[in-house]
Amino acid sequence: KRYVVIMAGGRGERFWPVSRLARPKQLLPIVGEKAMLTQTVDRLSGLVAPKDFFVITNTEQRDAVLEVCPDLDPAKVIGEPVGRDTAAAVGLAAVLVRREDPDATFAMLPADAVIHDASGLCATLETAFQAAESQPVLATIGITAAFPATGYGYIQQGDKLGDYGDREVFNVKRFVEKPDEATAKSYLASGDYFWNAGMFIWSVSSIVAELEKSTPSLWSALQAIDRGLESGQDLDALLAEYYPSLEKISVDYAIIEKASNVVMVESGFDWDDVGEWPAVARHYPEDDAGNVVRGSAELKDAKENIIYSQDEDHLVALLGVEDLIVVRTDDATLVCHKDKAQDLKDLVKTIGTKE
Ligand code: GDD
Ligand code: MG
Repeated sequence: KRYVVIMAGGRGERFWPVSRLARPKQLLPIVGEKAMLTQTVDRLSGLVAPKDFFVITNTEQRDAVLEVCPDLDPAKVIGEPVGRDTAAAVGLAAVLVRREDPDATFAMLPADAVIHDASGLCATLETAFQAAESQPVLATIGITAAFPATGYGYIQQGDKLGDYGDREVFNVKRFVEKPDEATAKSYLASGDYFWNAGMFIWSVSSIVAELEKSTPSLWSALQAIDRGLESGQDLDALLAEYYPSLEKISVDYAIIEKASNVVMVESGFDWDDVGEWPAVARHYPEDDAGNVVRGSAELKDAKENIIYSQDEDHLVALLGVEDLIVVRTDDATLVCHKDKAQDLKDLVKTIGTKE
């Protein structure tokens, strides 16, 4: 049997003031008309039924997840009491999926990538599922690297493992999480590196074997949760007891960089990680001066700006400015230079509880 587990623990600080702690990017229609999480579930409905999705989010966002995705099984929407990064989420997923079916295969996917080609995504994941069902591998999805990004993992393609579904699967020579810029440039020049899409497909037994090997203390704490569930204890109580002391590390550093059985399917779909406001603008048409407007705005002698204001009764006007991000909500307004979009989360940290 197949399951999908969505990692939805992100805080979305780079989309302030639209995204807030209780309602981050994945719960908002940052690109498109529905919440990013809803779009993620919808896109995969041809592959795995909504009732076989798990969503691992935090306790504050649980209700909102069920609001935007009413078809999910509420028992499979899990609230972490504290975020312990993705290795912990993967381990928790392995425990929960194993309790459903120890022979299952599952895909761990991020909540918020922008992908328009749903059938290409499903075909790519079908190939990854088939590979993971027939071999003890950890399957990743490789995206053609477009520039020397330092915020992604890099996958070095090796020889062919075989054909599964209608695509090829390759062994991975090396996986490097978030290299520095010089290293990223050399990977791009070499031509055999791909970006990691942050999607992982594996069988319960394959990922459990890696968790035992690479993160033994994390895994033993998670097994204590499993034993508690077996004896009828409440999951939320067990998470409150064990989760805060789990090691905080991402699955990429903790497992994928170290494992020797990583394989890759090249993505047969468009992919955009939309990590910040300028990335959102790529998905909307520009006017003649390169401005992207969502909502109501009046512009004069203004170029290359991004304006986001959903309240049609509130007019935003720009005169003689360029390269600005202007985002307006009911209780906050952001004016930010495009070059500073990456630093927005630092500003949100200083705003702190006021946000
Ligand atoms: N439940 C849960 N708990 N989810 C989490 C947590 C957590 O503590 N931390 C992060 N997530 C979710 C995020 O919401 C996102 O959907 C996904 O896990 C990935 O986390 P990011 O924090 O966005 O990871 P990243 O962008 O630094 O790097 C990963 O994604 C890149 C592609 O977007 C890595 O896998 C990279 O190798 C990859 O290139
Ligand atoms: Mg990310």
